[in-house]
Amino acid sequence: MADIELEGIRKVYGTAISTVALRGVDLTVPAGEYAAIIGRSGSGKSTLLNILGTLDRPTEGRMRFEGRDLFAASDDKLAEFRSGTLGFIFQFHYLLPEFNTLENVLLPYRIRHGRADGAAVRRAKELIEKVGVGPRMYNRANNLSGGEQQRVAIARSLINAPRVILADEPTGNLDTETSESVKGLLRAINREFKTTFIIVTHDRHIAAGCDRVIEIEDGSIKRDLSTSELSRDETWAELAPCNCREREDGRLPAAPPA
Ligand SMILES: Nc1ncnc2c1ncn2[C@@H]1O[C@H](COP(=O)(O)OP(=O)(O)OP(=O)(O)O)[C@@H](O)[C@H]1O
Ligand SMILES: [Mg+2]
Repeated sequence: MADIELEGIRKVYGTAISTVALRGVDLTVPAGEYAAIIGRSGSGKSTLLNILGTLDRPTEGRMRFEGRDLFAASDDKLAEFRSGTLGFIFQFHYLLPEFNTLENVLLPYRIRHGRADGAAVRRAKELIEKVGVGPRMYNRANNLSGGEQQRVAIARSLINAPRVILADEPTGNLDTETSESVKGLLRAINREFKTTFIIVTHDRHIAAGCDRVIEIEDGSIKRDLSTSELSRDETWAELAPCNCREREDGRLPAAPPA
């Protein structure tokens, strides 16, 4: 069964002056898929991700998770669903600056379960090691580098063993090298835990490494490309016309290194 199904999702912001951010989006994301959402600034990517994350309700339309109609539920039920099933990674990681790495990673667990027992602390430590910030276990977040903070945010997104991770520009603030390693880490998590990923990105390198690329234009799905049957060069060429980061001269950039 498909994990996530969107049906006729419309989102209109405002009343007096209204903006139609999504114009009837239908989308099915099977469990374990590693998908990118791309598109021009203002096309509706974050709006779509917020609805997928039940952080915002659509104006019209339905979303089902394993057949369950989510937006029919109360806000409290949605919050419960969110903390038990979804993980979030944002461009700005929203760590608590005065908390150390371990405390930040344990936070979603504490919100969900009240207190962290020994098993939870062990799990948090394992995740922190896995994302490569073990040596910063007891450093406060505001003393970490941007890349380290993003890794802590990734470990935090995993603490409640989410089925789905939603990421909005997870490498938006990182240099190329750190961005590559975060990209590798997300893919490794997808493979190891079979976690579904939906990643909003402007980075064509990230999009090219996904199983599927969904392009949004002006609130609608313009293209829905399965990359699994394409070679790396074909994928790269397919993504050339879309509004990921482009070379200034508009020529097709060289394919990324294998
Ligand atoms: N809270 C809001 N109130 C009113 N309009 C909004 C709100 N959030 C987004 N919009 C509008 O909805 C449209 C889609 O915005 P959205 O943030 O989803 O774009 P995006 O594709 O994520 O862009 P970017 O790549 O710049 O992050 C835009 O026209 C935006 O101005
Ligand atoms: Mg956005």
